[in-house]
Amino acid sequence: MKFNSATLFAILAAGAYAADESSTSSGSASASSASSRSGSPTATSSNSRSTSNTCSFSSATITNATALQQVASCSTLDGDITISGDEFATIDLPQLEEIAGDVTITNARSLNSVILNQLTSIEGKLAITNMTQLITIDLSQLENSRDLELVSLPSFANLMLNQEIEDVGRFTLSDTALSNLNVLTTFTTLQYMNINNNKNITQLQFPNLKSVSDALILSFNNDDAVVELNELQWASNLTIQSVRAFSANDLQNVNGTLQFSYNVFNALNLSNLSYVGSSLQVFAHDELASLDFSNLREIGGELSFFNNSDLHDMSNTFPRLQTVEGAVAISGDISNLTMSSLSRVVGDFQLNSTSEDFDCSEFDQLHDDGDIEGHNYICSTSGSDSTLSSATGSETGSSSTNSGFSGDGDASNRSNASNKLIISSLLMPIGLILAIAML
Ligand SMILES: *[C@@H]1O[C@H](CO)[C@@H](O)[C@H](O)[C@H]1NC(C)=O
Ligand SMILES: *[C@@H]1O[C@H](CO)[C@@H](O)[C@H](O)[C@H]1NC(C)=O
Ligand SMILES: *[C@@H]1O[C@H](CO)[C@@H](O)[C@H](O)[C@H]1NC(C)=O
Ligand SMILES: *[C@@H]1O[C@H](CO)[C@@H](O)[C@H](O)[C@H]1NC(C)=O
Ligand SMILES: *[C@@H]1O[C@H](CO)[C@@H](O)[C@H](O)[C@H]1NC(C)=O
Ligand SMILES: *[C@@H]1O[C@H](CO)[C@@H](O)[C@H](O)[C@H]1NC(C)=O
Ligand SMILES: *[C@@H]1O[C@H](CO)[C@@H](O)[C@H](O)[C@H]1NC(C)=O
Ligand SMILES: *[C@@H]1O[C@H](CO)[C@@H](O)[C@H](O)[C@H]1NC(C)=O
Ligand SMILES: *[C@@H]1O[C@H](CO)[C@@H](O)[C@H](O)[C@H]1NC(C)=O
Ligand SMILES: *[C@@H]1O[C@H](CO)[C@@H](O)[C@H](O)[C@H]1NC(C)=O
Ligand SMILES: *[C@@H]1O[C@H](CO)[C@@H](O)[C@H](O)[C@H]1NC(C)=O
Ligand SMILES: *[C@@H]1O[C@H](CO)[C@@H](O)[C@H](O)[C@H]1NC(C)=O
Repeated sequence: MKFNSATLFAILAAGAYAADESSTSSGSASASSASSRSGSPTATSSNSRSTSNTCSFSSATITNATALQQVASCSTLDGDITISGDEFATIDLPQLEEIAGDVTITNARSLNSVILNQLTSIEGKLAITNMTQLITIDLSQLENSRDLELVSLPSFANLMLNQEIEDVGRFTLSDTALSNLNVLTTFTTLQYMNINNNKNITQLQFPNLKSVSDALILSFNNDDAVVELNELQWASNLTIQSVRAFSANDLQNVNGTLQFSYNVFNALNLSNLSYVGSSLQVFAHDELASLDFSNLREIGGELSFFNNSDLHDMSNTFPRLQTVEGAVAISGDISNLTMSSLSRVVGDFQLNSTSEDFDCSEFDQLHDDGDIEGHNYICSTSGSDSTLSSATGSETGSSSTNSGFSGDGDASNRSNASNKLIISSLLMPIGLILAIAML
């Protein structure tokens, strides 16, 4: 992979060549250079920005200033290029207008700044990763980016970005000291954006965002992070973790998975959400007390709730939910959960409530009627939610209910629930047995 500077020169001299056409063929980006492209680029071309100079590599590793100097005249970089090593304080490529391949800048322990201030287009990928001293990244002319990763840069606090940037394709920002996303929050559509572990980011407001075609992940940034997605109508996948405030008032559709975990707000109101294409998951959310999914009609995957210790009353959470195509797995100190529209659960059903007030009869009925189709059905409640002394571990007063076998009094051991399932299945209506047999 590595080659010396003589080889690099040779590749550049030979490689600077014919790719002139291919660099224009991609069309959309870097119009300025395309329009005034000169016919015969060389590796040692002048500083004139009107000179096109495509440098292609199958794979190259640059570890010192001499080698870097030799790509400094390239206006387009193509191929897999890695820049690393401890020699660099600054990486400055003032001629570079387009990244057509994959450029990785990584493990350069002395690097303070990356200046790519003529770069307009990333057609491939730019990854800048794993450097503790890096403070500044200048992408002040960037217009279009297909894939940009800025990861494990704990001192990185200064991002210079074009205010007119049009598209960021896939964008990952992880473990940096950046304190605001600035222009990146102004898009009306996003493809994939993953903002995680940036402990100085508190504001994650996307006031114009209407749709997310792949995923939006906002996870473990500042503990006080506020997320507002109030124009968002649909997202393929949405993951929200460790935020203090959240709203998405208009959200109607999540085509894939919707996950909330480790958050600290106390009410979640997604009353306009009608469809989740894959899983809906809410867990490890101790403050959550109020939950409104009052228009949700269908979940294409699993419905999973656990470790939400303050969530007791779910009586109005899912009034219109009709269908869960996957499994239902809910546990917690839930006093009531009504799903008055539920008519079909395709997967298993497990509901473990530690509240003695919980009433399984609604679900037992659905199970008896064959509307809960999965092979495993558990609806269990246990009393004495006063002491949760898991150390002594006695589950006194617990009772579990399985398809008509209501509360078998004391000492019910949950691991025996499946035994009772087998018994109860013997007593199931013949129609249901036939239905299961058909699966
Ligand atoms: C630069 O790195 C290349 C290998 O990547 C090496 O062959 C060359 O000797 C180095 N030049 C200097 C000046 O260190
Ligand atoms: C990150 O950099 C450190 C040293 O700066 C190095 O020890 C470590 O292996 C690097 N990690 C990766 C994933 O490259
Ligand atoms: C990030 O937050 C820490 C702790 O609040 C603070 O000390 C530091 O100065 C902040 N860094 C930046 C770049 O804002
Ligand atoms: C997001 O959801 C879609 C379904 O709409 C799925 O195909 C895709 O793989 C999911 N994940 C990501 C990371 O986009
Ligand atoms: C749902 O949409 C309606 C109409 O757009 C709006 O008035 C309402 O506030 C939205 N729901 C939530 C939870 O904000
Ligand atoms: C997601 O659902 C919305 C609303 O139904 C739809 O307009 C959009 O095309 C879907 N997106 C994907 C990626 O399937
Ligand atoms: C959720 O928001 C809607 C619209 O603003 C409101 O009518 C409803 O009462 C809210 N739900 C809860 C549980 O506060
Ligand atoms: C859920 O809570 C249990 C018991 O406190 C804990 O062991 C487990 O790690 C938690 N799971 C998650 C995903 O937080
Ligand atoms: C419910 O309890 C049973 C028996 O202890 C256990 O196997 C199952 O994983 C629990 N389900 C949930 C969703 O916690
Ligand atoms: C929920 O359960 C609690 C405790 O049993 C009860 O006081 C409350 O009235 C119930 N709420 C609804 C809406 O049924
Ligand atoms: C439940 O039963 C299993 C196996 O039969 C046993 O190991 C476990 O200690 C029992 N738990 C309780 C609380 O009785
Ligand atoms: C569980 O079931 C087994 C076999 O049916 C029985 O021997 C055992 O006592 C039961 N355990 C409890 C705690 O009920």
